[in-house]
Amino acid sequence: MQLILLGPPGSGKGTLASDLEQRYQIPHISTGDIFRRAVREKTRLGLEVEAIISQGELVPDTLTIALVEDRLSQSDCLNGYLLDGFPRTLPQAEALSEMPVVQNKPLTAVINLVVRESVIVERLSNRRVCSKCGRTYNVVSLKPQIEGVCDACGHPVIQRKDDQTATILHRLEAYHQATEPLVGYYRDQNLLIDFDNEKSIQDTAQAVYEYLEQIRPQAEADHG
Ligand code: AP5
Repeated sequence: MQLILLGPPGSGKGTLASDLEQRYQIPHISTGDIFRRAVREKTRLGLEVEAIISQGELVPDTLTIALVEDRLSQSDCLNGYLLDGFPRTLPQAEALSEMPVVQNKPLTAVINLVVRESVIVERLSNRRVCSKCGRTYNVVSLKPQIEGVCDACGHPVIQRKDDQTATILHRLEAYHQATEPLVGYYRDQNLLIDFDNEKSIQDTAQAVYEYLEQIRPQAEADHG
């Protein structure tokens, strides 16, 4: 499976990715997670992108494209991958289509998560993430078993800097301006399918899974 998860900030891409990653045993490549890890570890990349991310701006295309191309060239991506948060601009989508891994095995599907903006703002305000492994929680819909402690690694669960209301609104603007055109771009290629993610996390994951299982035989026959 070669998948892209598309959708506005907070539409549930990372949450769905965790489910699909387990079901299909394919690497979950989140550019947001890569950037946040670099910031935590204070690498050169981290220092370069820290202010951009915390203000809800987009990281420049050249830097992001090079990073993803390098990640997709690794051997664990030979049997598929799950892109979350990339591509986010038309130049990124066009660059992706030229990458050797995509030329060898074309995209299987683009899953577009649809959620109203009022719901997004509420979910992002309630989101918490593990400060170490990045696992996502929600103070309303997905609480850790012990308050403030990550179920997976035991580290503190915190609020992301870019989940302040003003920054959420700025990220939504960036989405409408730079990313939303990709909906039409992939729809025109017959790759995009919309999923209403105002349902429960489990119901959406099940609906996506059923869809992927339905298209899987044809996708494998076409591209291996
Ligand atoms: P990134 O990390 O990609 O952020 P994003 O796209 O804004 O997406 P989020 O991680 O905020 O949300 P999500 O859709 O994954 O939702 P989640 O599953 O957490 O990028 C961060 C920044 O990095 C960008 O702003 C930019 O600066 C930079 N960047 C990254 N990629 C880039 C690129 N390609 N080019 C340039 N810059 C880039 O869910 C949200 C909440 O809702 C959670 O609390 C969750 O528990 C809850 N939830 C999810 N589904 C449901 C449901 N069905 N019902 C109830 N609650 C739900």
